[in-house]
Amino acid sequence: MSKKIIIAIDGFSSCGKSTIAKDIARKIGYRYVDTGAMYRAVTLFFLNNQIEFHHLDLVNEALKNITINFRIDEITQSQITMMNGEDVEDIIRVNPRVAGAVSDVSALSEVRRFLVKQQQAMGFEKGIVMDGRDIGTVVFPEAELKLFITAEPNIRAQRRLDELKVKGQNTTFDEVLANLAKRDYIDSNREDSPLRKADDAIEIDNSFIDKEEQLDLIIKLVNERMGTAI
Ligand code: DC
Repeated sequence: MSKKIIIAIDGFSSCGKSTIAKDIARKIGYRYVDTGAMYRAVTLFFLNNQIEFHHLDLVNEALKNITINFRIDEITQSQITMMNGEDVEDIIRVNPRVAGAVSDVSALSEVRRFLVKQQQAMGFEKGIVMDGRDIGTVVFPEAELKLFITAEPNIRAQRRLDELKVKGQNTTFDEVLANLAKRDYIDSNREDSPLRKADDAIEIDNSFIDKEEQLDLIIKLVNERMGTAI
């Protein structure tokens, strides 16, 4: 029987990391955790409660009042992000204020410590696929398989724009591209846990490969690592 492993997926915004992570998890029967959703939920709480991000005492107090977990929708089998018992799945993805502030919130060490601890607990028994920005470098530096996903900025912006349009959001390509560029910059240049490829991560540029091709490639890697995991 194959050993349970941890699959860490990192990369820039809107590279399709979540879709890939979900597909892998479904295919091999692993749990999937979208850590970006956790940073987005904290951001929503701060915005709703007018917490000033630079006021660290207030940030620490606020974090004590936040509980995040995931529930599975019985009909669609998709994962729903819950914050303090409330379904925030849609709002954290479409609210432009969340998209505008999440990189600043996720640059705060207090917030990172709070969420990383929970993420590590979720992976304690392995058998998990987790996606984010620091999974292979900070959350699970010992993960058996680390992937770093990239795609060209224009392609990422178009994919994100299509997603937002489906969700009824009225925005432009240029706005989306600018938001992605800003988030990439802040995510890669922050002091605490900047986005970077772990030395032992495998990089996949999916600008010009389709989803099936990418999934086949990754599943091969997963099978290899499952066979060799200690
Ligand atoms: O994956 P996403 O676009 O939903 O992530 C939203 C933001 O959260 C992103 O701009 C950076 C931050 N993030 C992070 O700092 N660390 C993670 N592990 C996941 C997300």
